[in-house]
Amino acid sequence: MRIAIYPGSFDPITNGHLEIIERASKIFDKIIILIAINNEKKYFFTIEDRIKMIKESIKHLNNVCVDYYEGLTMHYAQKVNATALIRGLRVVSDFDYEWKLATANEYIDPNIEMVFFMAHKEVSFISSSMINELYSGNVDISKLVPNIVIEMYKKKAK
Ligand code: COA
Repeated sequence: MRIAIYPGSFDPITNGHLEIIERASKIFDKIIILIAINNEKKYFFTIEDRIKMIKESIKHLNNVCVDYYEGLTMHYAQKVNATALIRGLRVVSDFDYEWKLATANEYIDPNIEMVFFMAHKEVSFISSSMINELYSGNVDISKLVPNIVIEMYKKKAK
């Protein structure tokens, strides 16, 4: 069984992430969306909220699930016998960061392949922090995120 991990912060999940998950789900037998920790970031949503948003957004995909891990992503990938790690590339400026991450991951385990998906141009400008900013600025984000994300923002504001 070809298992792939799609790691990230997902703070929150966006249509950009979803587009990659949907494409990857056709190529791999199973995709595990992994909420991992980037120590450089301060998160807006709790892990529970992020899991809830992801679960709701992937309901239509029967070979995709979500998990959370506090250690190294590659160690999680080894634990579940994953064959690949998926990352999305949006713009040229993503490359530098992804190259460093991929090189560190390869150092940990060269047997787990890094697989990159080029984001479709319609969603290639989206990032989670941009979504947070747009929402805070009262901009309509309904075309950029699954509905559950908007519901969770509203719930958080109460
Ligand atoms: N659509 C929308 N947004 C996208 C995207 C896409 N297709 N591809 C990337 N992004 C955005 C994300 O929304 C995020 O935006 P933000 O910075 O505004 O929040 C940004 O690109 C990158 O975030 P993400 O892909 O979630 O990565 P990250 O840098 O937050 O986290 C981890 C990377 C969590 C996978 C990585 O730090 C990790 O594996 N941590 C565990 C420890 C580890 O193993 N470290 C590596 C070895 S040292």
